[in-house]
Amino acid sequence: MNVSKRVSLVPSSPIRKLVPLADEAKKQGKKVYHLNIGQPDILTPSVFFDAISHHREPVLKYTHSQGDPNLVRAIQRYFLQDGIHFDFEDIIVTTGGSEALIFALTTVADPYDEILIPEPFYANTGSFMNQTSIVPIPVPTKAETAFHLPTKEEFESKITPKTKAILLTNPNNPSGAVLTKQELDMVTALCLKHQLFLIVDEVYRKFAFDGKKSISIGHIEEAKEIAIIIDSVSKRYSSCGARIGSVQSRNKLVMSSILKLAQARLSVSTVDQIGAAKLYEIGDAYIEDVRQEYLRRRDIIVKHLLQIPGVRYEIPEGSFYMILGLPVLDAEDFTKWLLTDFDVHNETVMLAPAKDFYRTPGAGLNQVRLAYMLNCNELEKAMEILKQGLQVYQSLKK
Ligand SMILES: Cc1ncc(COP(=O)(O)O)c(C=O)c1O
Repeated sequence: MNVSKRVSLVPSSPIRKLVPLADEAKKQGKKVYHLNIGQPDILTPSVFFDAISHHREPVLKYTHSQGDPNLVRAIQRYFLQDGIHFDFEDIIVTTGGSEALIFALTTVADPYDEILIPEPFYANTGSFMNQTSIVPIPVPTKAETAFHLPTKEEFESKITPKTKAILLTNPNNPSGAVLTKQELDMVTALCLKHQLFLIVDEVYRKFAFDGKKSISIGHIEEAKEIAIIIDSVSKRYSSCGARIGSVQSRNKLVMSSILKLAQARLSVSTVDQIGAAKLYEIGDAYIEDVRQEYLRRRDIIVKHLLQIPGVRYEIPEGSFYMILGLPVLDAEDFTKWLLTDFDVHNETVMLAPAKDFYRTPGAGLNQVRLAYMLNCNELEKAMEILKQGLQVYQSLKK
């Protein structure tokens, strides 16, 4: 018996598929520094745990499909602090940004419709498109232009009668690019011209560096009717396990449609929503500290990369990821080798091969995605191991 074609198209997660090799290395007593995964190590704010540990109700009930009203209001205030007004019904709480993405995709496109997505892109977004039988149409971005958007003409050349939306991730995972107002204006104008929705995944919005402003699509008035924003507490509040995200749009038809999807899955975890509402009250000082910490880590990485010959990279402008072009033919082979055949004093590093962040055949073969989720000391060691690993691997391949 066969499983569906839809599910067969879903690729394995590039971040997780080499985990068995890392597990084997650990079994053999090696320490593995994880530069592959975007799981923050910053402590989750204690207000989350305080709120959930004090929660008592005789029966742990479903909550509203739209979300616990307290949390919806907290999200509303969060956007308003940045000058973005959403009506109460413009916000729906979801099980992570992941469910928000699935809801948005399901709402804007039918099976075999197409959505344009700058490439490289967050691999799971591609999986969600396969899962909903939507065809992702990659719009290549290049290291030479710091993974910023290509021209309007390049986008336009990919638009067909089946195109229903453009999906951006800003700041970007995996490249770290932060889009400019001009880029957002360009894509907005394009969407308006071709009557497309504009989904913007903003789960990393607060993490922009070097004075770069990460502008929400909610700030672009012209995008009001077409924009759908994806948000999440996972990264901003270091609360991936809370599984709380949200989808926002001022398009009432979009939101009443998403509400039907939300009603079908009944509700999001009641307890996690209670904790998450407190996270939104923490304020910008906490987020600023976290941003500074990621900035320190980014700078450590860049300092080490300067000493590694042949590595191609752009200094990431935001999020906590970057793409490295390595002086190897097959970055996945190198990544596996680091886990199976290499160590420095019994320690090695794990990277995410970047080819799975692309859908264009052959793209990204020599690239890896690096996530800077380790503390500064560990990062220093991990980068030194990476440097030595590259030297040894290159000498073996000569
Ligand atoms: C760009 C992007 N969007 C969405 C998500 C989904 O996160 P969550 O479901 O934990 O909110 C992630 C997680 O890594 C991500 O990188």
